[in-house]
Amino acid sequence: MDGAARFITFEGIDGSGKSTQIRRLSTRLESAGIPHVMTREPGGSPGAEEIRRLLVEGDPERWSAETEILLFTAARRDHLEKTIRPALATGRTVISDRFADSTRVYQGATRGDLRRTVDVLHAEMIGREPDLTFILDMDPRAALTRGLGRGNGEERFEEFGLDFQERLRAGFLDLAAEFPERCRVIDAGRDAEAIADDIARTVLEVLA
Ligand code: ADP
Ligand code: TYD
Repeated sequence: MDGAARFITFEGIDGSGKSTQIRRLSTRLESAGIPHVMTREPGGSPGAEEIRRLLVEGDPERWSAETEILLFTAARRDHLEKTIRPALATGRTVISDRFADSTRVYQGATRGDLRRTVDVLHAEMIGREPDLTFILDMDPRAALTRGLGRGNGEERFEEFGLDFQERLRAGFLDLAAEFPERCRVIDAGRDAEAIADDIARTVLEVLA
């Protein structure tokens, strides 16, 4: 096992640029010869990708927040077993588009007042935190115009509306204050290259 492998996550509201920044970080790690895998939640393993479809497609009201916690946690457990742990065990850094912080904020603090339930299930079934988390912070109005209209049928959460995204933003900032050792808040309203520079600098420091 290569002790340098780290578990890095990206969090933030819908359309805040997480997948864009993960792709850019991957290119930079590639150039630096750092072995890594890119993955995402919900999904990141064949079984979890099947669960993803249940969660991100269809009527916004199709699941209660409680049912969502169970589905996201089931997907995460499979992702951890099949993708995250095997990669870290073979010395590859893992970069994940969302992880447990999304459940804490979406289901625990915004969809419902269910943080305790989220924490209990997390402790029992997942029991792993990232080494480093980037919280991409930006005005939800601007993010919504970026993110909506992608037309891929995966807009279930975006359809909860702008007020929901405002509450998510506040939830992610609260989370950054709760876990200051691993969380870095990034101003995501800027040019993509400037954001990528900040992120790469931090990651290379942490990996060094
Ligand atoms: P997320 O994964 O957080 O939903 P994406 O990376 O898919 O966000 O970005 C959402 C949209 O915004 C995409 O169309 C993407 O090209 C665009 N985008 C991403 N980052 C920026 C940026 N810094 N400035 C302007 N547009 C951006
Ligand atoms: P994602 O594909 O990251 O959407 P986006 O690219 O729009 O940011 O995630 C799908 C949706 O699932 C997103 O709206 C956030 C939501 N979600 C939760 O509500 N709880 C969770 O635990 C996770 C991982 C995602």
